[in-house]
Amino acid sequence: MKIIRAKDYNDMSRKAANIISAQIILKPESVLGLATGSSPLGIYRQLIQWYEKGDLDFSEATSVNLDEYCGLPAENGQSYHAFMRQNFFDHVNLAPHRIHIPDGMAPDPAAECLRYDRIIAECGGIDLQLLGIGHNAHIGFNEPGDFFSKHTHQVALTESTIAANTRFFGRPEEVPRQAISMGMQAITQARKILLVASGADKAEALSASCFGPVTPRVPASILQLHQDVTVIADGEALSKCPL
Ligand code: GLP
Repeated sequence: MKIIRAKDYNDMSRKAANIISAQIILKPESVLGLATGSSPLGIYRQLIQWYEKGDLDFSEATSVNLDEYCGLPAENGQSYHAFMRQNFFDHVNLAPHRIHIPDGMAPDPAAECLRYDRIIAECGGIDLQLLGIGHNAHIGFNEPGDFFSKHTHQVALTESTIAANTRFFGRPEEVPRQAISMGMQAITQARKILLVASGADKAEALSASCFGPVTPRVPASILQLHQDVTVIADGEALSKCPL
């Protein structure tokens, strides 16, 4: 695991965008695993700028997103479909038929989970997986538990995740209680993993994930077993790491 200290959120975002940019330049047909949340926003902004300048071309790339809330249609402004459109897809030239996000409205969530894993397999797996990290060290919506969920699965969000995501909804009652999340198999089989974290509220989760025991109680700790993980974090997020 390579840990890179960024000066601040913007520096973290530019460094991470550089890595994604290099991936696309080296392999234009890359499969990018994409994430939502505040952490990757600056990365998307930077990638859009480089795309607009003509330095980046996503026309051959494929994207697979980590997760989606259950019960929110793609048109709902709080859905991760909408988040990705607003913050990235509407501004770059990824081909719509190569953009994949779990369908939170699927009438049969179990079938949707199987379909999603099939899509990832048919793409040949993920070349570069971008991750944020939750306060409880969740990645995607892989919440702490007794075991690591291997496959894409439906998950009941924890109170801590609901509380953290209330800021996007206004009231806690409006945050969906369930989501569909990519499982640990697809995430850890990604050829490269890039995790970004910013702010003191991520310090505990980051330290436990990078330096604590590998345990499903700290979902991101599984990344310690991966051979190509880059963590880019600012000083506040790294403040509890023994570096
Ligand atoms: C959500 C997403 C995660 C994300 C996490 C942290 O729960 N499902 O993929 O990493 O939030 O979000 P933020 O970057 O806004 O702190």
